[in-house]
Amino acid sequence: MNGSWRFFCVGLMLLVASFSLAEAAETPVVTAQSSAESVEGKSLADRDKPAKDNSRQETVDQRLKLKDPIKSFGDNGFCNNCHEDETPAIFEEWVKSPHAKAGVGCADCHTSPPGNPDSVKHAGRFHISAIVTPFVCAKCHEDQIRDYVSSGHAKGLQSLLDMKEDDPRYPVIAQYKDDDFARCGGCHGVTVGVDAENKPDAATWPNSGAGRINPNKSHGTCSSCHLGHSFSLQAARQPETCLRCHDGDNYPEGDIYRHSAHSTVYETIGKGIVQDRPGLFLRGKDIVAPTCAYCHMNGAGKGLLNRHNQAWRLPRDLTSPNAPLLGRSENLRNNMKAVCNQCHGESFTERFFSDADKQLTAYQEKNVEPQLAEFLKKLSTVTGDERQVILKEYSQFLAEAKRYRMNLYMGRHGRMQR
Ligand code: HEC
Ligand code: HEC
Ligand code: HEC
Ligand code: HEC
Ligand code: HEC
Ligand code: HEC
Ligand code: HEC
Ligand code: HEC
Repeated sequence: MNGSWRFFCVGLMLLVASFSLAEAAETPVVTAQSSAESVEGKSLADRDKPAKDNSRQETVDQRLKLKDPIKSFGDNGFCNNCHEDETPAIFEEWVKSPHAKAGVGCADCHTSPPGNPDSVKHAGRFHISAIVTPFVCAKCHEDQIRDYVSSGHAKGLQSLLDMKEDDPRYPVIAQYKDDDFARCGGCHGVTVGVDAENKPDAATWPNSGAGRINPNKSHGTCSSCHLGHSFSLQAARQPETCLRCHDGDNYPEGDIYRHSAHSTVYETIGKGIVQDRPGLFLRGKDIVAPTCAYCHMNGAGKGLLNRHNQAWRLPRDLTSPNAPLLGRSENLRNNMKAVCNQCHGESFTERFFSDADKQLTAYQEKNVEPQLAEFLKKLSTVTGDERQVILKEYSQFLAEAKRYRMNLYMGRHGRMQR
């Protein structure tokens, strides 16, 4: 596929993705059991069955033992020939991965046709890239990519670059704008560049920040959560996968979760029995306590779909100082309630959210709105050192307010820092 085709396809995918998010949000996902069946091409019941046999693994082992892996594996066989020794850890991880079992190898993900900005001639005959963009995965994982391209994660860097001056957060982030937020790139992603030989530029890669901008202009990277070459679901489902970014002074999710009843139960009872099973997990007898990925992504039970865009279950943007409601918020809230109701009684869930909503409204009106106005007024007049002092206070205020809001929905009401 040549360069311009790629751009065209990415554009098309973005269009399709934003359209389908808007459209499907009209129908709560709770009722989407039938579309789950058509989307996945398998019935929910089938997806929930653990794979009984390991025949696929045996086939791979046998094929790898063949005298001529190249004949049986094509280009992937050539790669294996060298890489079994050159990068033994990567090879080992890959051999055990669902990809090897399905016959998907190095060349399938790393081939990069000549003409691509990051295409390098390798081992004298192949054109490869070390950088693997979501575009590559899209060839085989359509459902995930459809969700992912319009997600906050994929836009993690662009949303900072695009932030308007009238956003109350602008005065704080403006300080980091000069180098396009490179200093924030570990989590938000950087703009990945290539050197004169088309190899990744050392100043910008390796990077697995959420919304990194790739040399082919695609956004994001699946490896922010699918680290390494195991592509293990069990690994992706662990809270630690998310805590790599969702933790720290300005990012209270980690603290809130770790001190929640959910985390306690998960750490003490649940951790040992999370499975690497595709499709649904923790269903029926396995259900213990939710992790980040369980509430925000997993499609466990009762008609929920696995999601690669967290926005499907978020009725408002709690990260923004004004905590605005998002389109069709009632449906989006219902999606999240459907998650809670897998384990809790409906009235328990209703009480929890109605109290959280009530507290949120009061907190925003009494604390956030007046202080926000005051800070913004001050910031519009002061300069120099004085401005720096106020900016620092303002930034702390924003972080604290975000912590308060998130604690209402993911923590324990009445457990605030002081
Ligand atoms: C003749 C041996 C050989 C073959 C065949 C081979 N490689 Fe490599 N490859 C190497 C060596 C040696 C390195 C480490 C040196 C380097 O990083 O350039 C490497 C590095 C790489 C890297 C990392 C490059 C970087 O810039 O970090 C990737 C990705 C890669 N190979 C993929 C592949 C793929 C895909 C194939 C099959 C299409 C393949 N290789 C075939 C020997 C080989
Ligand atoms: C399912 C897709 C997939 C397959 C199959 C795959 N890789 Fe990768 N590989 C990736 C992704 C994703 C990255 C991260 C790249 C990035 O950050 O853009 C990566 C990164 C790498 C790197 C650079 C990172 C490092 O630790 O050096 C090397 C080398 C590499 N792969 C080699 C291989 C080899 C060898 C094989 C076959 C045994 C292979 N890959 C199979 C997706 C794949
Ligand atoms: C050439 C096709 C192909 C490409 C390219 C590809 N995959 Fe896969 N992937 C598969 C197949 C086939 C499976 C096995 C699915 C199954 O058994 O249901 C799989 C399995 C997976 C799984 C595990 C799912 C499970 O059910 O255990 C993850 C996660 C995954 N892929 C992520 C990725 C990511 C991320 C990329 C890009 C870096 C990628 N894949 C690229 C074909 C591909
Ligand atoms: C440790 C990883 C990490 C680093 C480093 C990081 N961010 Fe974030 N950022 C996140 C996560 C995760 C979110 C979404 C969750 C949240 O807001 O709590 C986020 C959200 C944001 C938001 C929207 C929510 C808010 O708090 O206003 C802004 C603005 C932001 N980041 C700016 C920055 C800037 C500017 C930098 C660099 C100075 C930076 N971030 C560095 C992880 C990080
Ligand atoms: C925010 C972290 C995150 C990112 C980014 C991410 N994934 Fe996932 N992925 C997960 C988690 C968690 C699961 C397991 C969901 C569950 O509980 O079943 C998963 C599951 C999967 C599966 C198995 C089927 C399914 O939908 O559950 C595939 C395939 C997959 N991811 C591919 C991708 C691809 C392709 C990308 C990039 C376009 C990507 N993922 C980006 C976290 C992520
Ligand atoms: C590589 C860093 C990184 C990892 C890993 C990561 N996130 Fe994020 N996440 C971010 C950033 C950055 C944002 C803010 C994006 C933006 O600008 O809106 C974000 C935003 C979010 C949001 C807010 C809604 C949205 O769509 O913006 C949720 C919910 C979320 N992440 C959940 C998760 C979960 C669950 C996991 C683990 C399965 C995870 N994240 C892993 C960096 C990360
Ligand atoms: C028990 C389910 C549950 C668990 C576990 C959970 N969350 Fe949440 N999360 C929620 C709910 C509910 C909201 C607020 C939704 C609303 O506004 O109704 C939320 C909000 C968020 C937000 C703010 C998104 C926005 O744009 O407003 C982020 C970011 C987030 N969660 C990340 C995480 C991370 C990271 C973890 C793990 C450390 C995690 N969550 C664990 C249920 C959960
Ligand atoms: C996978 C099962 C599971 C899911 C999903 C789940 N919870 Fe829980 N939750 C538990 C368990 C187990 C406990 C601890 C025992 C108890 O208090 O019932 C708990 C406890 C709680 C508590 C009591 C905390 C305390 O401090 O006393 C609240 C509130 C709560 N959950 C709210 C929610 C909300 C809201 C959701 C959805 C956003 C949710 N839960 C999703 C299993 C779950």
